[in-house]
Amino acid sequence: MIETETVLSPKDCLQIRNELCHQKELWKKRSDQFPFYTLGAASYLDARKEAQTYYRRSALESPLLRQNFGDLYEKLQIVLNRYLGAPTTLDHEQAPPGFHLYFSHPVFETPIADVHFDRQHHWLSWEHPDEIEWSNPISFTLPLALPEHGGGIHLWELEYDAFVSLDLPEQKKAFTETAPTYHGYQLGQLAIHSGHRLHQIAPGLRLGPNDERITLQGHALQRRGTWQLYW
Ligand SMILES: [Fe+2]
Repeated sequence: MIETETVLSPKDCLQIRNELCHQKELWKKRSDQFPFYTLGAASYLDARKEAQTYYRRSALESPLLRQNFGDLYEKLQIVLNRYLGAPTTLDHEQAPPGFHLYFSHPVFETPIADVHFDRQHHWLSWEHPDEIEWSNPISFTLPLALPEHGGGIHLWELEYDAFVSLDLPEQKKAFTETAPTYHGYQLGQLAIHSGHRLHQIAPGLRLGPNDERITLQGHALQRRGTWQLYW
């Protein structure tokens, strides 16, 4: 359901976390009430209403990400190339993987995150869409800082194609009858899944005032044999 691959040591994670914290002026605050920020254009947030917002943000922020985090992307690509058995690229029309930054707040101990399937690739414009393997995407998370009592993801054994073929009462029944599995993240360990299983950022546990949850986030789709990494 979810697989992990080592990309960074805990020491590397701390160094990147510190670099990110020095670039606070570049973060985008995503909530008026809670300390939740992003760095980079995020299709699931910025393309939700109209793709132009995503492309505008990407035009502003992607060059900085590529410049500041080239080493991180290179390490990510080395691991993904091996894991996928095929080349990956960041050199295309979408924004590169970006960052989620959550800081301590009691609300993050509650299940406020969306329970969802990753469908955001359909909100973007892709060149040569007929050459993309739409049915075989991946989503990934690379934890760079985690709360003392951990951070992770909930996954339900509910697949997108089967789930959407149900009517609404059947979907509700399937959801209430299926318990999610918790996958705990580890610093520097890339967690990879299809995005086609129902999932949710798991609520934090006993968050302390200095707890942080900082992750590199991305997805990939294969086009003409090469995986296009994006967020
Ligand atoms: Fe997701």
